[in-house]
Parts: sequence; C-alpha cells; structure tokens
Amino acid sequence: MTHKRNTLRGLAAASLALAFGFAAQHAAAADPIKIGLILPMTGQSASTGRQIDAAVKLYLAQNGASVAGRPDTTRRLAQELVVNDKVVALAGFGLTPLALATAPIATQSKTPMVVMAAATSAITEASPFIVRTSFTLPQAAVSIAEWAAKNKIKKVVTLVTDYGPGIDAEKYFSERFALNSGVVVEKLRTPLRSPDFAPVLQKVRDANPEALFVFLPSGQGAAFMKQFAERGLDKSGIRLIATGDVTDDDQLADMGEVAMGVVTSHHYSANHKSAVNQKFVDAFKKANNGMRPNFMAVGGYDGMRVIVDGLKTTKGAGGEALLNAMKGQVFESPRGPVLIDAQTRDIVQDIYIRRVEKVDGQLYNVEFDVQKAVKDPGKAK
Ligand code: DHB
Repeated sequence: MTHKRNTLRGLAAASLALAFGFAAQHAAAADPIKIGLILPMTGQSASTGRQIDAAVKLYLAQNGASVAGRPDTTRRLAQELVVNDKVVALAGFGLTPLALATAPIATQSKTPMVVMAAATSAITEASPFIVRTSFTLPQAAVSIAEWAAKNKIKKVVTLVTDYGPGIDAEKYFSERFALNSGVVVEKLRTPLRSPDFAPVLQKVRDANPEALFVFLPSGQGAAFMKQFAERGLDKSGIRLIATGDVTDDDQLADMGEVAMGVVTSHHYSANHKSAVNQKFVDAFKKANNGMRPNFMAVGGYDGMRVIVDGLKTTKGAGGEALLNAMKGQVFESPRGPVLIDAQTRDIVQDIYIRRVEKVDGQLYNVEFDVQKAVKDPGKAK
C-alpha cells in the first residue's frame, strides 16, 4: 500500500492511502507536538478514512484549543502538518495489516500507537506501545452467537472476509455458538480485495441454514446486501445475522428494505440513546454536511480523546509517559462507558444487540439488548 505525505488541507484531494501529521503548540517548548495519523482514503476502505478523518477534526475543533494548555486552533495545526519524524503518537490504522506492519516501528521508537479502526484481537499484542479505541471481532461475535442460540437458531452458515478480523469472527462465533448447542454447517470466506458474493451466496442457499452469520469490513456491507437481495436470499427464510460492520451507519441509510430486521452485535450505533451520543451525532453531522457518524468515526473521536487527555497529563511529553497516561483511562464515549484496560491496552466496552428499523423514515441499528463491560474474549486464553 502506498502512503502519501500530505497536509490536512490536502486531505480530501489525496488519491492514495494517506499519512499525515498535525502539530499543536507544546506548552513548555517552541517545538510543536505532532501526531501521525495513517488512514486509507481510497478504495473499499475509503469510508473508514473519511469517517475517522472527520471525527479527528471534530475532536480538535471542539477541544484543540486546550491541548497541553495552549490556545491552538485546527487551522494552525493544519498549517504545521508534517508526517516525517518526532510525532508523539501514531494513530489511525483502518485495516489490520496496516496496523501490524506499523507495530514494530512503534516498539522500536517507543511511540504510542493508537489503533482507531482495525479490530483483529491480536493487534494489541504486536507492540507494547499499542492502545486500541475501536473494538475486537471476538467482542462482537461472541454476543451475536449467544443471541442466536437463545433465539432458537440451531443451524448456521458463517461467511467472513478471509483475513485477521474475519478469521477471529468465524472462530469466536463458531465456538460460542457450539457451546450453546448450535451447529455451524459450513464456513465460507471471501477475499479482502474485490469480493464476489454470488458464488458464496449460492452455497448458502444450498446449505439452507436457519441463519447466515456474516462479517465483512466496513465499506463492503452495501454491495453484499444488494447481492443478498438480488439472489432472493431475503425471501428464502434464511435469517441474516452479522457483526455491526455489515449494517455500517455509513451505508445503512441506502441499503433499502433488504436490511430491515437484520440483527447484529456491535459497540456503536448512531442511534445509541445517550446525551453524549446525541451531542456527538449532532456536532458530527453539522461539521460534515449531514454525514452520519459510524463506528469508525467513534473509534477516531475516542482515540483523539485518549491521546489529548494523555498529553494533558504528560504536559506534552510522548514516549512511555504518554503510553502510561493512556492506560487505564475511563470515560463516557458516544458509544457508552469505556475503559482502556491498563494490562491489555485494549478497550473494554458494552456490546449491544441491535435490529435494523426505520426511525423517522431512515434505517438505523436500534439497540435492544446489551452486554456490559465486555473485555476482548480473544485475550482470555
Ligand atoms: C477491520 C476493518 C474494518 O473495516 C472493520 O469493519 C473491522 C476490522 C480490520 O482490518 O481490522
């Protein structure tokens, strides 16, 4: 993957995956504090980059003036953008391979690395400098497996993207479902790049399970749902269940009737009922021409919060001091209460069971059940 250096102002025009840094005035020294953010900006993960970029900008617009106690504005930060060296933190990482490739750099340079999107369980074990503000696929998959088993679903086919998070989703869904007397009759996978869902959907039809469990990375849900409907699977009696990546708020509004009633598990819905979320959604939409925030936006927003609060504690210092200031942070996210587990550096959060419904004429993931304070099951070995 090619990464392009760019400025914040040039972000929208970037044509390749992008790396950018921004600068804030250090409280004690004239040197700016820099954070390097690496995000995919094109191709099927483009929405991840767009959502996180918008959330990071929103966080800085709302809070940037108080970074390490100095009144700096987002505009000033943009002018001083650099990507090369001396960043106090690395942040972003829209896909697992990108996070894993960067982990050794974080370790060698002792730079805290905040994973705002990628969600394979093992990522946090790739460097002691990694902190995660997104989620893990085991967190989501275990909850929907329990819901399915409790709701008289006994026979399931799984369909996942064939790389880290998909393999986690398949494994943790299947294991938990089996513990609850469910049977996975077939395990299907599609490639990360340019997947064709037609052949796997034919296999699903042939296997005729009670439900199909799906994980696809953010950005692929709409194409999948279209195929699911075109091949008549929505009328076949096979229920669709998934992790919330599939009914992604970035694409859900345009998915149409086929998405209605789909049950998923995830850590964030734009429809989450809380004052903190209402404020976040309103501010995000206002700052982005009405764009609805998705779970990637929340990972980016909370990631910025964790970095900025850490920098307040260290008075702008990076390295191990910043890492330690990130560990153990507890706060109310737009998604609900969260903790950055000091031992694992991974996020502990509520996982919701949601159903796609119309709210004021628009499709939303409406939460109807919750499992509180879920630690990544991938680490409880
Ligand atoms: C990953 C990417 C996604 O877009 C997603 O929804 C979940 C996981 C990943 O690569 O880890």
